Amino acid sequence: MADIGLVGLGVMGANLALNMAEKGHRVAVFNRTAAKTEAYIAEAGNLAPRLTACYSLKDLAAAVAPPRPIVIMVQAGPPVDEMGQALAAELAAGDMLIDAGNANFRDTRRRVGEYMKRGLDFLGIGVSGGEEGARHGPSIMAGGTQKAWARVENILFDISAKFEGEPCAALVGPEGAGHFVKTIHNGIEYADMQMIAEIYGVMRDGLGFTPAEMADIFNAWNEGPLKSYLIEITAKVLDAKDDKTGKPLVEVILDTAGQKGTGRWSAMEAQDLGVPATVIEAAVAARGLSAQREQRLAAEKIFGSAPMQLGDALGDRKAALKVLGQALLAGKIAAYAQGFAVMARASEAWDWRLPLGTVARIWRAGCIIRSVFLDDIAKAYSAGAITNLMMAEPFASNLKATEASLRRVVAAASLKGVPVPALSSALAYFDFSRTARSTANLIQAQRDFFGAHGFERTDSTAKGFHGPWSTSA
Ligand code: 6PG
Repeated sequence: MADIGLVGLGVMGANLALNMAEKGHRVAVFNRTAAKTEAYIAEAGNLAPRLTACYSLKDLAAAVAPPRPIVIMVQAGPPVDEMGQALAAELAAGDMLIDAGNANFRDTRRRVGEYMKRGLDFLGIGVSGGEEGARHGPSIMAGGTQKAWARVENILFDISAKFEGEPCAALVGPEGAGHFVKTIHNGIEYADMQMIAEIYGVMRDGLGFTPAEMADIFNAWNEGPLKSYLIEITAKVLDAKDDKTGKPLVEVILDTAGQKGTGRWSAMEAQDLGVPATVIEAAVAARGLSAQREQRLAAEKIFGSAPMQLGDALGDRKAALKVLGQALLAGKIAAYAQGFAVMARASEAWDWRLPLGTVARIWRAGCIIRSVFLDDIAKAYSAGAITNLMMAEPFASNLKATEASLRRVVAAASLKGVPVPALSSALAYFDFSRTARSTANLIQAQRDFFGAHGFERTDSTAKGFHGPWSTSA
């Protein structure tokens, strides 16, 4: 009998099942369209003997050894509920559903409760690494009970990516915690991608670099502190040629970005928790602005295009590249500080006890934001409690060394109209965060003026002071 079942042979599901089979696990698979299942088994080659094709959910339940773990890998949202309900009808008490899609953690919380009432366990796992990761080793962030996790831990460890031999898979907390962590991963992914795109914009429009030159630059950056999967693929993207025109491929790709919602959820949850995640928000907003292409074309007609060219504002070519690389690193520190701060607050709010050091550790390989930077974050968490990553070593020292470059890039780009919304947000976040005396005293006075909301005074511990305006206004 199979050790595990899997429903949904889309790209991610198909690859996850092959990954499990390759690691020696027997997997029963089901897909709504039978032809897809047939073709899948036919193409599975030497892994086919470990795969059992099932053509109904009843067959699937019969093929998996009880208590059955069944992975649901269908489109996030209502299809998960539909499939879950249909599966639950075929399952028995003690069986377990595992949602491995990009679910909204609020749905996962609800589902955990619903299935628990029916005697079924529900594990919500965030899986990162795209197609390739699913096939050869993703990063896995699980949410659920210790008991549920323990039952599939060996399979998930086996299929996950390894960082220096350590599996990039962990139970990060109860119920929706795994999907929440995946959501924040994606928020950070958006921020990382946007800041890279902004640096690309400064190089392309501000400094006139060609894609081939930029590919070399990103390759060089991939040897230093920016070393990461996203920098590596950016270099490859910039190097790629379009078959049809022979031009650099990046130049024939339309400049409107898609999004499926996880970045937006990340920003929404940050807002809901009252945690500033401005770099992530800026990255989500930038995708929205990119999608308003018609409006951008119309606005450029009205306002004209910005001058963009930076001349030698960042120094000569060699100096400019150093400044740009440092600016990216500084922005990255701010963005990750925000993402981890959101998780820290969520952990308190939902009483999850998220092990943030473990989160950093399981992000070091397999996932889209994997990087040497995450190893530093993991080490920083091992070294002690962290209030904000920007203030922890080595990030505090790195920020001290790089913030001037971020400021220079944002200032130079802003003067010439090169849009750098995420980098600007990172700079503003840094500047505000390290300002001991903010300007919110004025906000408090305004709030008291129009709403008698009261304020605290600098010279008293009492609360509820009011200004003279309630009587005089
Ligand atoms: C990952 C990715 C993956 C997917 C996102 C991208 O971690 O493997 O984040 O989950 O690429 O869905 O989302 P957008 O379509 O919103 O960019």
